[in-house]
Amino acid sequence: MLRGKFWAQKHGAVRGIDSAEGIFYALFAMEPDDLRYTKFDFHNGSGAIPALGFGTLIPDPVATKNATKAALEVGFRALDTAERYRTEHEVGEAMKEVFGGGKIRREDVFVATKLWNTNHRPGRVKPAFEESLRKLQLDYLDLYLIHTPFAFQPGDVQDPRDAAGNVIYDKEVTLLDTWRALEKLVEEGRCKAIGLSDVGVETVKGIVEAATIKPAVVHVESHPYLPEWELLDYCRKNGIVMQAFAPLGHNSEPNLLADPVITAIASRVGKTPAQVALAWGIQRGTALLTTSKTPSRIAENFDVSTLPEDAMREMNEGIKTRMRFNAVVKTGVPGFIPREKK
Ligand SMILES: NC(=O)c1ccc[n+]([C@@H]2O[C@H](COP(=O)([O-])OP(=O)(O)OC[C@H]3O[C@@H](n4cnc5c(N)ncnc54)[C@H](OP(=O)(O)O)[C@@H]3O)[C@@H](O)[C@H]2O)c1
Repeated sequence: MLRGKFWAQKHGAVRGIDSAEGIFYALFAMEPDDLRYTKFDFHNGSGAIPALGFGTLIPDPVATKNATKAALEVGFRALDTAERYRTEHEVGEAMKEVFGGGKIRREDVFVATKLWNTNHRPGRVKPAFEESLRKLQLDYLDLYLIHTPFAFQPGDVQDPRDAAGNVIYDKEVTLLDTWRALEKLVEEGRCKAIGLSDVGVETVKGIVEAATIKPAVVHVESHPYLPEWELLDYCRKNGIVMQAFAPLGHNSEPNLLADPVITAIASRVGKTPAQVALAWGIQRGTALLTTSKTPSRIAENFDVSTLPEDAMREMNEGIKTRMRFNAVVKTGVPGFIPREKK
């Protein structure tokens, strides 16, 4: 798989992204068909993350399990779930069945889940982590993320609200306190890497400067309408992989899959708009997570190929629409998850 500058020099990889410090490389496949197998090495933590990952934020449990199995079967080797999605059990069941089939092993798949806002107090981190592992039926994680930088009132209610409907935050814990508890999980060998989600550059800097184990991954909304170039640049310079969620715009309006720049490139290169958006994301150096409960789209989303340079330039320069679809970064309340019924 694709690793490091020397691999690139030896094998003549077609494109590399070099930071000022020269510590982070995003390398791309020599053959167009290899783009889907791109991996980014971790500089903070051990292992490497497949660029093309499958997210499991799917409300229906049966659909979650079926989609996860379908994703593994078509070739996805990175899965993302979260305590908050309530899909860990179904993802665990899907993995168990697929691994039981004997063709794919646990160690072939990169599995990530996330600590929810109500478990930020250090004493709650390990029990939450163990509970996630239990549901996933795993004995280690490849990546554990702090789902948002917002601490909510600790307890079993995931969306704690006061009588006026306002979120009840927890002022007794800092993000760094929570980070230190995640560092212990790595030191104990329970997870290979840790990271942050739904954060901006300033929050990442604060953790990078204070951390013993720096974030391996920063997981944020990003797509052609929200490229997050500044954050991506910061991540590259600090050896952090930026992982994009909602790379297809989460089926929301304005529909980026109908963007004229993207549709024109798609018809020119003989790919679908979704495949163009995903290829763009990988080629500019981000890992990404796409999601579908539809088998044909799951297969379509894995079938990406390298875009030519001129298409990359058109994507970077020709798309002017700017849109954030998920307001989770502002409050910690996840925009794509239906509000709980009382
Ligand atoms: N940390 C966070 O706060 C956070 C927030 C959101 C998401 N995430 C993670 O990121 C993952 C991906 O996010 P996302 O669900 O927003 O991703 P997305 O891939 O941008 O959007 C998924 C939506 O696009 C549709 N779709 C998928 N493939 C398509 C295709 N080829 N053509 C047309 N439409 C297509 C799906 O419809 P169908 O299912 O009907 O096919 C679904 O409605 C989530 O599952 C989750 O793991 C994290």
